[in-house]
Amino acid sequence: MALVTMKEILTDAYEKGYGVGAFNINNLEFMQAIVEAAEEENSPVIIAVSEGAMKYAGIEFLAEMVKLAASKSSVPIALHVDHGKHWEVIVSAIRNGFTSVMIDASDKPFEDNVRITSKVVDLAHAVGVTVEAEIGRLKGIEDIVKVSEREAVLTDPVEAKEFVDATGVDALAVAVGTSHGAYKFKGEPKLDIERIKKIRELVKIPLVLHGASGVLPDIVALAEKYGAELKGAKGVPDDQIKAAIEAGICKINIDTDLRLSFLAGVRKFLSENPDVFDPRKYLGEGREMVKETVKRKIRLFGSNGRAW
Ligand code: G3H
Ligand code: 13P
Ligand code: ZN
Repeated sequence: MALVTMKEILTDAYEKGYGVGAFNINNLEFMQAIVEAAEEENSPVIIAVSEGAMKYAGIEFLAEMVKLAASKSSVPIALHVDHGKHWEVIVSAIRNGFTSVMIDASDKPFEDNVRITSKVVDLAHAVGVTVEAEIGRLKGIEDIVKVSEREAVLTDPVEAKEFVDATGVDALAVAVGTSHGAYKFKGEPKLDIERIKKIRELVKIPLVLHGASGVLPDIVALAEKYGAELKGAKGVPDDQIKAAIEAGICKINIDTDLRLSFLAGVRKFLSENPDVFDPRKYLGEGREMVKETVKRKIRLFGSNGRAW
């Protein structure tokens, strides 16, 4: 089928209380892995492209590739800009057929975030494109020592409601203790689940969890076995993700887990086959590992069997 909007995907998730993964791609292999996993699990899926990915592969190449994959696929797929920071990128993505954009002005003061986000909403909604925005800062809870700082960094539920009312966004990314990358916590991993519940009570649109990778211990161990150095890597455990979805999270962003899976697959293959130099062999192994991880995530989020 043709690409669908992220709003269509998230409305179903919001109404029925499950989560949908947004998985980042930078190249063909990651996209194939995600689409095949979604098909095998009969799940809707969101494919996310960051500004860094656009710089690496070219926005047109990535957009055309995903549109073609969607047209051949039986599951609903949305194509989404992840952490769009520049107006030109948003416009270019919409021109290239993206069905959803994230405008991330979360590092700006509240009024500026509202103004910048509203401008994107006006443009995107005029052409039927979904908009996600963010309020709060992604930072590990244990890195925040003072209560006052914690309140300044994590999403304030009342401010979140004001933001959504003022901008008309379709989905809202909230800061509840996660951070991007493979080193999220030094001590016990902990998300502010109560805060998600409070936001959910006031904000009646799908909520988004960034920095949601689990940094899966078995994948990290496999990569390390074959030479990776990932000491201290730690992510969000599965039970916290489940609690976050129960509390109101609908979209879960995963990039790091795919990167680690690919790394483990490629490292293992190259280590076991030092004489092989055909890239299709080792990239193929990385692709298989990414696919397995995406399937695990789909089942964890509960979007398996939800395709229409
Ligand atoms: O949240 C960021 C995503 O993991 C994308 O990362 O900017 O390195 O492509 P990137
Ligand atoms: P991770 O680094 O935890 O995978 O988060 C990805 C993300 O939030 C992309 O927007
Ligand atoms: Zn993110």
